[in-house]
Parts: sequence; C-alpha cells; structure tokens
Amino acid sequence: MATDPTTTTTRVAASPSATSIADSLARVFPAGSRIDERGRLEVGGCDTVELARRFGTPAYVVAEDDLRARARAFVQAGENAGHGAELHVLFASKAFPCTAVLRTLAQEGLWCDVASGGEMHLALNAGFAPERLVLHGNAKSEDELRMALRHGVGLIVIDNVDEILRLGRLLAEGELADRPPQAVLVRATPNVRGDTHEAISTGQADSKFGFALDHLPEAVARIRAIRGLTLEGVHAHIGSQLFDLEPFRSKVAVLAGLRELGGEATFPTWDLGGGLGVAYTAAQRPPAIAEYVGTLVDAAREQLGNYRRLLIEPGRALTANAGVTLYTVESVKRNVSTWVAVDGGMSDNLRPMLYGAVYEAHVADRPGGGAPCVLAGKHCESGDVIVREALLDDPRPGDVIVTPATGAYGYAMASNYNGVPRPPVIFCKDGDARVVVRRETYDDLVARDVA
Ligand code: LLP
Repeated sequence: MATDPTTTTTRVAASPSATSIADSLARVFPAGSRIDERGRLEVGGCDTVELARRFGTPAYVVAEDDLRARARAFVQAGENAGHGAELHVLFASKAFPCTAVLRTLAQEGLWCDVASGGEMHLALNAGFAPERLVLHGNAKSEDELRMALRHGVGLIVIDNVDEILRLGRLLAEGELADRPPQAVLVRATPNVRGDTHEAISTGQADSKFGFALDHLPEAVARIRAIRGLTLEGVHAHIGSQLFDLEPFRSKVAVLAGLRELGGEATFPTWDLGGGLGVAYTAAQRPPAIAEYVGTLVDAAREQLGNYRRLLIEPGRALTANAGVTLYTVESVKRNVSTWVAVDGGMSDNLRPMLYGAVYEAHVADRPGGGAPCVLAGKHCESGDVIVREALLDDPRPGDVIVTPATGAYGYAMASNYNGVPRPPVIFCKDGDARVVVRRETYDDLVARDVA
C-alpha cells in the first residue's frame, strides 16, 4: 500500500531521484492536496479517481483556491515590498489561456499580458478591462495593433522598428487619429542569460525579442517622433523557469543604464517580465513568490530611480502547481523497460518533448512511488513520453495516473495530433468539481471543414 509510510520509503529509496509523497504534496501539488482515508489522491477537495470516473480522462484539473492563493501571494508581496510606487501583477496568459483561469485572475485584481490578437480576445472576453492589458509580440500584425489601439489597451510593448512604422501609419488613419495617445513600452534585450532551456531563454544579445541595448536610443527617438504614442518605459524579460534570482538582479542593473533615456528623472514605468521557476518535482527548490518579488522590488528601488509603477509578468508561477492532469492506463508492456501507456501524451503536455521537462507521476489510489517505469503517451512517436523515469506502484490497465504541476503551458500548447480530442478543464474547490472547458468531440475535429 502506497499510503503505508514504511513501504513507501523502502520502494522510493530504490531511486536516487525519489522523494517522499509528503514532499510532493507540499511542493508540487496544489496546496491542500492530500491522500484521503481510502489512500487516494485528493485535489481541491476532490477524489482524483472519482474525477476521472465522472469526467473521463485525460483531464486537466485546477485547484481554484490554490490558483487564487498564488495570485494573492504575488499581490501581497508587492504590497509588502513598500517601494512607494504601484506594483501591478500581469498574468502571462500564454501559460494557461482559458477563460475560467483568466476570469479568476481578473477577479483577483491582476492585469494581463497578451501576446497575440487571440490572447487579447480571450482576456477581454474574460473580463479584463482593456487598460489592464499589455500587448507583447515580436511580430504583431497590423490587425493586432489596430485591435489594441481600438480597445485602448493599457500598454503596447514595442519590439522592433517595423512595428514603430506600422503604429505610425495606423495612428495617421482617420478613425485612430482622434483617440487619446497610446501608452507604450519599448522592449530591451539586456544581454543577460539565465540558466534555463535554450528555447525559453530570451535575454541574450542574439534574441529574436526586443532591441539590442545600443539600438535603444534610436528606438526611443523614433517612438517619441510618432504623434499619438506616449513612451512610458522599458520592458525586459530574460527567460522562463529560472531558479536563480541573480540574473533578475543583473537585468535591473542593466536597465538602470537606460534611465537617462527616460528624461531627467527616469521612466515612469518599468516592466520586469516573468520567468520565476516552479517545482515540477519534489527535488526542485524554486524561490518563494515573496522572495522573488522582494528581490525585484529591492533592485528596482535601488537602481531605477523614482519610477511610478513596476510591472511583473508571471505565468508559470501562477498556474503550474495549481493544476494536475489525470490519465488512464491503457496498457503495460515489459521489454527492456516497463512501458505504462496512457490515454494522453504529447497532445496535452508537449513540454517533456520540447524541453526535456521532467515530471512526477502517481497512481491515483496508490501514490508515492513504486517500481521504475516509463510513462508513455498514446501518440505515434517514440519520443512521446510523459515521464521517462516514473515510479509507479504496480500500474495496471484502468488505473488513474496523476501528473502534478501541469497547470502551465500544457493546455496552452495542446494539439489534436493523431486526431486526439483535447481534454476538458475541471475546476475543483472544497470538494466540488465543475467543467469549465468541455472535452473536444470527434465532431469538433471536423467542425472547421468547409469543403
Ligand atoms: N513575459 C513575457 C514577455 C514572456 O515572453 C513570458 C513567457 C512571460 C512573461 C511569462 O514567463 P513565465 O513567468 O511563465 O516563465 N512554453 C514554455 C514557456 C515559454 C515562455 C514564453 N514566454 C514552457 O512550457 O516552458
């Protein structure tokens, strides 16, 4: 029995990377998750075996209270930091672009980072006031810029010279010429490299995002020359899933070198981006939200002058650990390894394949380790592996498998590969579960066909 601490310890000790289920519950699962009296994993007060039975698998499950608590932790940390300026927490909506998540975070008073017209639409539809939206993107189309100007989003973060020219043309158009000036930031590439996967590192000099430091004075001059734009400040985002706070401090130090471009005092607004890492397994130790925010605010206060507002853009740190994914085992095969194949995979969680991301997996009613096996997806590729070194307790067809820390960039990057309908999103709170996004159907797979 996985709930027996003695046997759990014995089995888990077989793997050097293993930690206890108590650690996992405390560090990787949503707050309040536990093993119930029947030995089953419970998330948001709901029995995960029951959830799988009721809603089917695969399914994304979000513990609503945990999501709210993370939002509050960011907001609170900003209030406690006491830097005499505003701190706004923007949800980087790419992490979990689903209306219920967006609505929840809007209710918590967050702003929203959107990186496309589609994300802008989702955020507005979910109830974010346009002035709380910040539009990003290194390839914003004319339509996306026009949409942002029409809605009057809070800030557009300018990434390149072509975008400045495009905005200039749009603002000269009849309908848009009369609107109040559009506040913008300029995106800097600070040439600071955090320790993360190449694909999600953005701060290095040779990045597709933002202006190189020595191009910034010209960019600032060009922006200031456009009637209808007000340059409010600078944005920089160095990368994602970062554990070390030092690169964040270095980034602020680099940004401090841009203060004089803001005029006599400094720029009124500095947007420090996102990037705080999370624990995908119990062995990982990311900084706490308060520590991260405190570090940024301290660095800003010391180095950025008398600014009016500071913006931060967490995505992963808000949603990753608020969510788990449920699967059902379809087959167990033993050759060189033990292959435990489930009913989802790279279509609902692309991260292991894209970044070599490591996750934990547990049998829902026997959590806490077991024998080594490979948790494989159902897709037609050998690389479709969800957890390469899983420890599962005697997995059998029909078992429900839970992978924690799957609330960020899973739903966001899901696909219909192999014609697999995308999973539903289930919100759980105090033992109540509700579907907030329904499962796709086979009919959905042909719904866009017009011929
Ligand atoms: N701000 C900007 C401008 C960004 O580009 C990003 C993420 C964020 C904020 C939020 O970063 P976070 O706090 O979530 O680290 N698909 C990848 C992550 C890509 C992140 C892209 N930009 C993954 O699954 O790891």
